[in-house]
Amino acid sequence: MSTLEFLRGLIYEQYFQSVPKPTASFAHKTVIITGSNVGLGKEAARHISRLGCTRLILGVRNTTAGEEARKEILAEMSAPESSIAVWEVDLSSFDSVVGFVQRANRELDRLDVLLCNAGINTVKFSEPEGYESILTVNVLSTYLMASRLLPLLERTAAAGPVPGDPEPRPPHLSIVGSDTHLLAKFPEQHESAAKMLEAITANCKNDASRFRAQYPTSKLLVLLMVRDLVYRQKRSGPSSGVNAIDKPEEKYPVIINVPNPSLCHSSLTREIPAARFIKFVFHARPAEMGGSALVNAAAAGWETNGQYLSSNKVNKGGSLTWDSALGKKLVTAIEECFKRLDTTEH
Ligand SMILES: NC(=O)c1ccc[n+]([C@@H]2O[C@H](COP(=O)([O-])OP(=O)(O)OC[C@H]3O[C@@H](n4cnc5c(N)ncnc54)[C@H](OP(=O)(O)O)[C@@H]3O)[C@@H](O)[C@H]2O)c1
Repeated sequence: MSTLEFLRGLIYEQYFQSVPKPTASFAHKTVIITGSNVGLGKEAARHISRLGCTRLILGVRNTTAGEEARKEILAEMSAPESSIAVWEVDLSSFDSVVGFVQRANRELDRLDVLLCNAGINTVKFSEPEGYESILTVNVLSTYLMASRLLPLLERTAAAGPVPGDPEPRPPHLSIVGSDTHLLAKFPEQHESAAKMLEAITANCKNDASRFRAQYPTSKLLVLLMVRDLVYRQKRSGPSSGVNAIDKPEEKYPVIINVPNPSLCHSSLTREIPAARFIKFVFHARPAEMGGSALVNAAAAGWETNGQYLSSNKVNKGGSLTWDSALGKKLVTAIEECFKRLDTTEH
């Protein structure tokens, strides 16, 4: 997609679309939201608490900030103390993610929604766990958490709704995406699975212009891995090429989708001074509206399974995101990385 086409889409979203405040009930539901101490994650937590969530877990790396968010939301919503908890998780550490997953499996009897929201956009190159940091946080750790908590979501589907749930729904796995994925060229797509992640990291280290494209690339990778997760859960693979995610409810119990909140005010671009100007020109949405987009996705229907949602409407997204062979190669690369790091005990 050309930059001009991307800008046209962005203007349409920012000036002519909006997202309704979520109204779905979260009573009797257990929900995890990562990166929920600030920004869109905190706004999503606020909505979900307002909508009656029985057990909401704020997955944050800074537990002091998490506790502040918790107290603020509890006070505003007059929600019971026990309805919100703060759990530590740092997505720049695979051990931390594995510990979080283990804790969830140990302490939760069900999981209705996993909202993988935590993400970074940094201008400073670093290699936590030996991989570039945006790749590590937005893609590798996000995949690690999502794929290792899918069985708990599946068990929740098998157990059915809690008696008295006013709005029974299948469990949801929502991973936050971005329209910037449309700008990603992903030059490493032709590498073998064995070399792909290392090539991304090396290119970001050695080429400043490639590193500037790393955030959009990370969101492209999110879509590729989500579609691969959906295809694999169907066990038969894509049935017929592009947009082949059909009738998923017949084969798979968890709805998996990728909401794009579009350009919003938040601290995501804290290291990028030009972002203030861009947000002004493109009429950035309030964080509250971004949070609405995430919560609506976390309660959306089967038509959103495996889909990218802009302003909560199914949107085709970039053509590369439908390349099932590429998605499979990416996920193979990620699984191999975890095997090498010995984090696959689940
Ligand atoms: N804002 C936008 O315009 C926009 C547009 C499209 C998509 N998104 C996506 O929306 C999601 C939320 O972003 P936001 O705009 O709300 O940004 P934000 O205000 O910067 O919030 C990001 C959250 O992720 C957490 N986080 C970052 N690194 C982490 C790590 N290593 N471990 C655990 N948590 C970590 C942050 O924690 P700390 O507070 O400790 O840093 C924070 O809670 C991201 O996935 C982002 O890519 C945002």
